[in-house]
Amino acid sequence: VHHPEITAQKWSFAGPFGRFDKGQLQRGYKVYKNVCANCHSMKYVAFRNLSDEGGPGFTEEQVKAIAAEYKVTDGPNDDGEMFQRPARPSDRFPSPFPNEQAARVANGNALPPDLSLMGKARAAHRGFPGFVFDIFTQYQESGPDYVYSLLTGYTDAPHGQECASGLNYNKAFLAGACIAMAKPIEDGVVDYTDGTPATVENYARDVSAFLMWTAEPKLEDRKRTGFKVMAFLIVFAGLLWFTKRKIWADVA
Ligand code: HEM
Repeated sequence: VHHPEITAQKWSFAGPFGRFDKGQLQRGYKVYKNVCANCHSMKYVAFRNLSDEGGPGFTEEQVKAIAAEYKVTDGPNDDGEMFQRPARPSDRFPSPFPNEQAARVANGNALPPDLSLMGKARAAHRGFPGFVFDIFTQYQESGPDYVYSLLTGYTDAPHGQECASGLNYNKAFLAGACIAMAKPIEDGVVDYTDGTPATVENYARDVSAFLMWTAEPKLEDRKRTGFKVMAFLIVFAGLLWFTKRKIWADVA
């Protein structure tokens, strides 16, 4: 929203009645799993969250199968050693690297940030009073707008603005156009089985929606409650108005 290269997308979860699109979240998870998880963890998201109300709607059986595809470090065991075991639904999405040092070595000294909260972390946040009205504005979706714009923002550097070696030109990158993450997705790299075209734009949109859900897992609940509260307050304000009129009716 603040950056000319961040383009606002249409999101099913925008506005007071917004809901996540389960199919989109499931495709987004697939993109995360097949591409992003090679570098990025999601340490605040447990596998079992994938079957939570208001999320991608995987079944518990699917969650068990998904968790079993990952290995996590556990321990220490009776011998005082750490060991690897297949993940369980209660584990969280681990980093593919054993430690920060290894992550940096694999990424030209840059550190792939944890993606759990990225959908909110890079959003434009407004103070009071702006945020009161943001349910009706695009600011609430500026996080996923950014992730989408970043993933689709790799272009050739304009003449004279080439990046140092190991960095990649990206017109949307907030920290100044040269990013350590190489373009992670190309058309066709992830299989979509629901007929959605396997394009960079669709991958980017779906994984951005997925990261919005991981960052804001109670979004649907929150919007439903908010709507009820606002409806109640409007009716209650009306009743107070008539009560006041009645009580003061005899006073000249
Ligand atoms: C940074 C998302 C795949 C390595 C980032 C950032 C986001 C992101 C949102 C933060 C940008 C910022 O600070 O504003 C994704 C998504 C991916 C993906 C959604 C999958 C579609 C990958 C892969 C690698 C990688 C496969 C490694 C080969 C990095 C690194 C950074 C980074 C090193 C830090 C960049 C810097 O600060 O210059 N990624 N990423 N990412 N990512 Fe990824």
